[in-house]
Amino acid sequence: MNKVIIGVESTAHTFSFGLVTLCGIPRKSHSALYRPEEGGIHPREAADHHSELSSQLIDKLMKTEKIDRSQIEAIAYSQGPGLGPCLRIGANVSRALAEHWQVPLIGVNHCVAHIEIGRNQTGCKDPVLLYVSGGNTQVIARAGDRYQVLGETLDIGIGNMLDKFARTQGLAFPGGPKIEKLAKEWHELNPAADVEEIPLPYSVQGMDLNFSGLLNAALQRINEGHELGAVCWSLQEHAFSACIEVAERALAHTGKRELLLGGGVACNERIREMTQVMCGQRGSIGVWPEKQYCIDNGTMIAELGRRMLESNSITKYNDSLVNPSLRTDHTLVEWD
Ligand code: ATP
Ligand code: FE2
Repeated sequence: MNKVIIGVESTAHTFSFGLVTLCGIPRKSHSALYRPEEGGIHPREAADHHSELSSQLIDKLMKTEKIDRSQIEAIAYSQGPGLGPCLRIGANVSRALAEHWQVPLIGVNHCVAHIEIGRNQTGCKDPVLLYVSGGNTQVIARAGDRYQVLGETLDIGIGNMLDKFARTQGLAFPGGPKIEKLAKEWHELNPAADVEEIPLPYSVQGMDLNFSGLLNAALQRINEGHELGAVCWSLQEHAFSACIEVAERALAHTGKRELLLGGGVACNERIREMTQVMCGQRGSIGVWPEKQYCIDNGTMIAELGRRMLESNSITKYNDSLVNPSLRTDHTLVEWD
């Protein structure tokens, strides 16, 4: 009988349960997405949503995967970074399950989990991670026993910027996929378009990025009468080029040869294409996991839990509090 690690993800909109076997074979997560009726995420409402769905989701996972509790080796959960009320639901559910199943509890770093599921899925060994999600935009690489942040957004996450722009145009959360579709359709009709025709600021500061100026300028272009599709296209071109430029700098700086994409925005075909072009030009390789493992998911939390269990990193009950501002480089990396 296969032993498994269960993973619980609850940093923001997504509440998700997933699992991996002890030898690292992942299974599809069971997830629920909190969609605010209007405006941005309301942390307390998202937490209520998560708490209402927890028993349903874990039951679904156990039934679909035909898991018996005797197979469960440990339970891992996102300890941070994320929204406090959402994180606390995941941590409480995980503590209760660990107690009920009498298995170890493993608090994991959500950002590091994106790297480990990417490595698991793509086979890359020592990548630079371009982590592009709603709340986070970071370029990360391993240095000794830590994953270091080489560059990051100084204001909002790239996905957050896309979602906010979409919302002003009446497009419901998540806005990123809708912007992608509008941009693609418009570009197919206007293949010779030049980004200079819909000018937007391009802001890279060393290895850091910011997106609020881009968002404001995109709204201005709409007010000036530019077509929505055209602005979506230019917005993607500018935002993604900035990320790719920083990722390229990180590859050059570290001498690493693999670029891994992770986070919800990594589902976007255009950022994948830009990754491939840039990596091709410098003799590096660009890789990304399937979409279900780019967006937040419980399986990635289980995978990092598995790596931590291998190195005996178990979280004591007293140390199991969540940390909304947990940093990527806080976590000691004791596995290969
Ligand atoms: P984190 O806690 O890591 O910040 P998150 O809560 O933002 O994650 P994710 O599932 O990683 O959750 O990412 C969701 C984001 O990804 C949303 O901003 C969404 O608009 C964006 N996104 C999803 N698919 C696409 C796409 N095809 N193109 C662009 N953006 C996308
Ligand atoms: Fe994430």
